[in-house]
Amino acid sequence: MRKVDTRKKIGILTSGGDAPGMNAVIRAVVRTAMYHNIQVFGILRGYEGLISADFHEMTSKDVSDIIHRGGTILRTARSEEMMTEEGEKKAAQVCNVLQLDALVVIGGDGSLTGASKLARHGVNVIGIPATIDLDLDCSEYTIGFDTAVNTGMEAINKIRDTSSSHERCSVVEVMGRGCGQIALWCGVTGGAEEIMIPEYKDINLDAVIRQIMENRGKGKNHNLVLVAEGIGDSYNISVEIEKITGIETRSIILGHLQRGGIPTAVDRMHASMMGYKAVELFVGSAKNRVVVMKGGKYTDLDIFEALEEKKPYNHELYDIIKILSI
Ligand code: F6P
Repeated sequence: MRKVDTRKKIGILTSGGDAPGMNAVIRAVVRTAMYHNIQVFGILRGYEGLISADFHEMTSKDVSDIIHRGGTILRTARSEEMMTEEGEKKAAQVCNVLQLDALVVIGGDGSLTGASKLARHGVNVIGIPATIDLDLDCSEYTIGFDTAVNTGMEAINKIRDTSSSHERCSVVEVMGRGCGQIALWCGVTGGAEEIMIPEYKDINLDAVIRQIMENRGKGKNHNLVLVAEGIGDSYNISVEIEKITGIETRSIILGHLQRGGIPTAVDRMHASMMGYKAVELFVGSAKNRVVVMKGGKYTDLDIFEALEEKKPYNHELYDIIKILSI
């Protein structure tokens, strides 16, 4: 007679933009689940793979040698279908057919919103915040941010060398969609003089140009302007700067460079802890939670409440960049 598998089952997927550290989360979830004798199904390409039931069973061995790798071994996608009622239903149905006791969703805002929709269809979900953007109001940290900032900072170090040799103005565009956090952190750690972020849309190019000229007047031989993706066209910004100031100006878009690479120790630590906590929540019979960081500590929130949270914008970093660049 065939032995019936009575183990609890969880699914795991990564969704949306990949973030360095996602593999370390997958590893932590799978290994903690193995420790508790829970069966794990790895779902490929986020919600796309869930809707088309593209999955495989995972064991400890499947997550060997991935803690240091960027990207995600489960691959990822931005699923258009999951944004429809039909797609949500299909995804929930697959969870039922697989008899999943929980689905662990690793991703940013859109991915966790997808998870909350599945929760409304009766799927037990556990979210883990992972996006380089650090744009989730419910958590002080999102996995991938530290690596992205370090990549940005290292690029700025290099651009600074050539910018200063040629006495140019350099316009560096970093990622972050509608959020200026990557730009702010790269600005402080890379020593940018001028920063343009979506949270301060009213800072116009005229003000930036005035500052560039003022800094030249003070004896600075080159300039570094950091532009967040959400501001718009950094190439045109550089053309305008050169036209008005007469200073030779170059622009660079760091783009997807910031999404890849070896995750930093900070990202591996948060990824390992959050992955572990997610499975422990499941073992403790929690329903529809998100693992978050609050007050520097790991905790968890109801997924619906978490997605409703709005944190006020903190002006401090922006003001400090201005002071440190005088
Ligand atoms: O959300 C992460 C992010 O890298 C954003 O900073 C950026 O706006 C977006 O993803 C780019 O998405 P895609 O890789 O789909 O072009």
